[in-house]
Amino acid sequence: MSPHEFPVASQLRPASFHPFSSTWVITNGALNVSPLRWSYNASSCYCFRLRECRCKWKRLVRSCSTSEFVVASDENYGNKQVVSLTPRLYEYVLKNVREPEILRQLRGETASMRGSQMQVSPDQAQLLAMLVQILGAERCIEVGVYTGYSSLAIALVLPESGRLVACERDAKSLDVAKKYYQLAGVSHKVDAKLGLAMDCLESLILNGEAGSYDFAFIDAEKKMNEKYFELLLQLVRVGGLIVIDNVLWHGKVADPLVNKFFCVFLYFQLNELDLMYYPQVYDPKTISIRNFNQKLMEDKRVSISMVPIGDGMTICRKR
Ligand SMILES: C[S@@+](CC[C@H](N)C(=O)[O-])C[C@H]1O[C@@H](n2cnc3c(N)ncnc32)[C@H](O)[C@@H]1O
Repeated sequence: MSPHEFPVASQLRPASFHPFSSTWVITNGALNVSPLRWSYNASSCYCFRLRECRCKWKRLVRSCSTSEFVVASDENYGNKQVVSLTPRLYEYVLKNVREPEILRQLRGETASMRGSQMQVSPDQAQLLAMLVQILGAERCIEVGVYTGYSSLAIALVLPESGRLVACERDAKSLDVAKKYYQLAGVSHKVDAKLGLAMDCLESLILNGEAGSYDFAFIDAEKKMNEKYFELLLQLVRVGGLIVIDNVLWHGKVADPLVNKFFCVFLYFQLNELDLMYYPQVYDPKTISIRNFNQKLMEDKRVSISMVPIGDGMTICRKR
């Protein structure tokens, strides 16, 4: 990564063009011209590059003139353009979510409670419910229930014979969840377990339930993700899914300013050697999520798909 990109990490920036610093940055990653792409000596090369940049500029203007969309394109991936969600576009996405009335009510009640931002978003809940339906899942586990939004979305689509083990350590939140299971008429499908998730998962394994679950959703203590994942990998059958929430952690996983060490960068600019100091933020939660994402990337026991929905979810299928 070029040092020029550091200041724009996880922020949207207005367009800026510095011809003599040979850096052109429009939004985070929407249009980056790296220093190497500009040649001041070879004019033909310069013209070619300029034309190429004009094309990119036109594409960007075309997309911006009709909307707020931010389009990221990366030449390493065949110039595929990827839409980044703006508030206006996200509002549109939410308008296209079929949120059951009981979930809407639960969201309303939770809105005034402490920690309401922890709830999964309606579009995430809809995706979870759809995955459960596609799998034809009968036996599910949720780690981290809070007031029950995601667990209720799952329970609503489970068949009558289905069962969801819902682990939560906070009694007050779990009471709200139980109230809504009752109101929705799905209490008989949910086995709400008050206590630490690790204890709950270990007792399921001791109970001989390994390999008997179809679907699991992890949304509790982020630093424990790896431990939850290992136990759930035992509990879920081959072909079953484990979904992990918050894998993008508000974008911080990709922010180079969040790291373990203070850093000093050396780079050349117009043939001069510059030194740049970037203070690094030590954030153990982000680092643990980043490490866990990396481990999943390398884990041959599962197929994976990281989905940029809500705060990011990774869907893992047990091989
Ligand atoms: C992000 S919230 C879950 C949100 C929920 N999935 C929803 O959509 O409403 C995380 C929850 O995990 C619970 N939690 C955190 N650590 C836990 C642990 N070790 N065992 C059980 N529950 C835990 C917290 O009390 C909190 O309610």
